[in-house]
Amino acid sequence: MQLAWRFARFDGLSVREWHDIVVARESVFVLEQTCAFLDADGADPQCHHLVGKVEGEIAAYSRIVPPGLKYEEPSIGRVLTTKNFRRGGYGQALMKEAVARCEALYPGANIRIGAQMYLEKFYGGYGFKTVSEPYDEDGIQHVIMLRESKNV
Ligand SMILES: CC(C)(COP(=O)(O)OP(=O)(O)OC[C@H]1O[C@@H](n2cnc3c(N)ncnc32)[C@H](O)[C@@H]1OP(=O)(O)O)[C@@H](O)C(=O)NCCC(=O)NCCS
Repeated sequence: MQLAWRFARFDGLSVREWHDIVVARESVFVLEQTCAFLDADGADPQCHHLVGKVEGEIAAYSRIVPPGLKYEEPSIGRVLTTKNFRRGGYGQALMKEAVARCEALYPGANIRIGAQMYLEKFYGGYGFKTVSEPYDEDGIQHVIMLRESKNV
């Protein structure tokens, strides 16, 4: 089923929309991944938020972090599909849309992400290459990956 996209700055989200995003993020990153970390890390008010819905329910989400906040380059983070919508192609649709939105916001910019290591191949499919050794963040192995605009 096709995702219905909603893309907005933080200040453009309704309180209800922000609530539903927090529920989706905490369900995946805190509960499912059993990781006690500060999901609402203070960056959200400066981010753009991309929500993909199926019949009114959040199936996919990510945020676009502006350059100079997490990294020198813009970043795509909190990439998720909710549990009921896994392995149906929504993760791929989400990454495609997030990269396109990021490119539109920051033309010509490289994109840097902190990727959970088990997804190196997944992100590799969107032009991201690993540029760091593995490192531990909140008990989960990560690598830094970079998508260079001149190479895609
Ligand atoms: C990563 C995630 C968004 C993928 O979403 P999805 O809807 O299942 O993905 P799709 O069906 O569109 O695509 C499947 C691809 O995702 C990758 N993938 C999905 N689940 C995976 C898993 N458990 N292990 C490794 N790769 C996986 C594979 O590359 C797969 O391609 P393949 O089927 O050809 O092997 C989803 O599994 C998720 O939300 N995971 C938990 C949150 C998370 O870890 N986010 C990443 C933070 S860096």
